[in-house]
Amino acid sequence: MKFFVDTADVAAIAELNDLGMVDGVTTNPSLILKSGRDILEVTKEICSIVSGPVSAEVVALTADEMIAEGRKLAEIAPNITVKVPLTWDGLKTCKVLSGEGKMVNVTLCFSVNQALIAAKAGATFISPFVGRLDDINLDGMDLISDIRQVYDNYGFDTQILAASIRSANHVTQCALVGADVMTAPPAVIKALASHPLTDKGLDQFMKDWAKTGQKIV
Ligand code: G3P
Repeated sequence: MKFFVDTADVAAIAELNDLGMVDGVTTNPSLILKSGRDILEVTKEICSIVSGPVSAEVVALTADEMIAEGRKLAEIAPNITVKVPLTWDGLKTCKVLSGEGKMVNVTLCFSVNQALIAAKAGATFISPFVGRLDDINLDGMDLISDIRQVYDNYGFDTQILAASIRSANHVTQCALVGADVMTAPPAVIKALASHPLTDKGLDQFMKDWAKTGQKIV
């Protein structure tokens, strides 16, 4: 499973990238706001760090305007993935831009049918939002699993990019049900290294080592 990092925080991306944890990056208007940076500048900087797909989202609502924005975003770097919302105009945009050879990430997916039509419109990635479905007492992971089954039934090559990932458990479940990619905030990726028994075991080792009075270097 590929790991994308869901942030426009350049320092956090660079830190994880140095550890080989970043196969790509996803951003959205909320994350650009949080960064306090200009979208074109910060996205260019991210693309200079990360060689995998970097999603940059259009903000227009009509297909013609989304296509124009998508083309401009795609000029930033060859690894830009144009992110469009799962609306009829977003799907039109997906069809046009994917026809031009650009990578397209169709976002704000909350149903299997939405994922199905995004694949038919040529999406490179489909982004189902796991956490936001959990928020309304639905099971976000069931959606990932159902899309996996439908895409496999028909051989769609659109990659399932599980988004709105909020916890280490979400990451485990994504890997178990076969998401192609998961995108998570840096804190969630860092939390994958944590286990209370690791902390407890290390604490015991340190106490015992101190009693030996030895040094390695
Ligand atoms: O990738 C989508 C993500 O940024 C949304 O996450 O936690 O705001 O639902 P969240």
